[in-house]
Amino acid sequence: MRVGVLTGGGDCPGLNAVIRGIVRKGVQEYGYDFVGFRDGWRGPLDGDITRLDIPAVRGILPRGGTILGSSRTNPFQHEGGVTRIKENLAKHEVDALIVIGGEDTLGVAARLSGEYGVPCVGVPKTIDNDLSATDYTFGFDTAVGIATEAIDRLHTTAESHMRVLVVEVMGRHTGWIAIHSGLAGGANVILIPEQRFDVDQVCAWVTSRFKASYAPIVVVAEGAVPKDGDMVLKDESLDSYGHVRLSGVGEWLAKEIEKRTGKEARTTVLGHVQRGGTPSAFDRWLATRFGLHAIDCVRDGDFGTMVALRGTDIVRVPIADATARLKTVDLKLYDEVGVFFG
Ligand code: F6P
Repeated sequence: MRVGVLTGGGDCPGLNAVIRGIVRKGVQEYGYDFVGFRDGWRGPLDGDITRLDIPAVRGILPRGGTILGSSRTNPFQHEGGVTRIKENLAKHEVDALIVIGGEDTLGVAARLSGEYGVPCVGVPKTIDNDLSATDYTFGFDTAVGIATEAIDRLHTTAESHMRVLVVEVMGRHTGWIAIHSGLAGGANVILIPEQRFDVDQVCAWVTSRFKASYAPIVVVAEGAVPKDGDMVLKDESLDSYGHVRLSGVGEWLAKEIEKRTGKEARTTVLGHVQRGGTPSAFDRWLATRFGLHAIDCVRDGDFGTMVALRGTDIVRVPIADATARLKTVDLKLYDEVGVFFG
């Protein structure tokens, strides 16, 4: 049995831990061979492979990024993409493919396996935690930790200068990173895409915070949208899956706050810092377990499935279930944290 592995989409802390888990169990317990495909779906599309054996995965558990490289290549945007992938899998004698990715990368795996009979097993990754069918994706815990530390540090500057500090965090169209890091970091306002925000209400919270002689920290998710307007974007370009490049709402909001309250407001955009560096212990644990269970799916011939976390158990679900809709923040949870606003 020869198994191909690829990592697609934005990089994410824990990708290497999954790869290591897959290869260690696959070689040691099942005697499988592996090939790594480089740069997400570009690898199988172009037949670009790399060696993947036990020496290749040694020492990678705590390393961020991915030893296989990643990209947002969409094979369905390429002429004859599916045929090229099938031919390259046959050429390299690959019997099964483990696809580690988010909504887009796994969406391709769901179609390839459901419509074209390519034997794929999925592993859910994303710092955004927005995939349905799994309680958590690996990478999220690390991103929340990084954002929380940044908020902790920004508190001291906000207090020293009595400024409003706006922190823009990632998360695409969901507010998981914002709500978790905002709560953990003691933010005074948290804005998420699931609930349009009223700038006057934000200014009222900011003002009330100053009245208590403290400086406010506003955490805004990059996908948050003002009540009376459109999504604020710095860059209108689309990626190969047709997604907009989010970011810009933090800068816009700081200007609005300054204009309406007369208080100095500055923005910190955390950006890719949230995806970089070493994974947290939780993400290493989850990613490793996902890897161990993914290779078991291959052994069982259970294709078209994705490994997922339910409570503390790793279960198998159809890949299509994870990509059918986004897992958004429940507004009941958002109401719960509202007690800390202002
Ligand atoms: O999906 C992960 C993520 O980091 C999102 O939070 C963010 O919107 C997007 O990827 C940024 O992608 P890129 O690095 O391709 O600009």
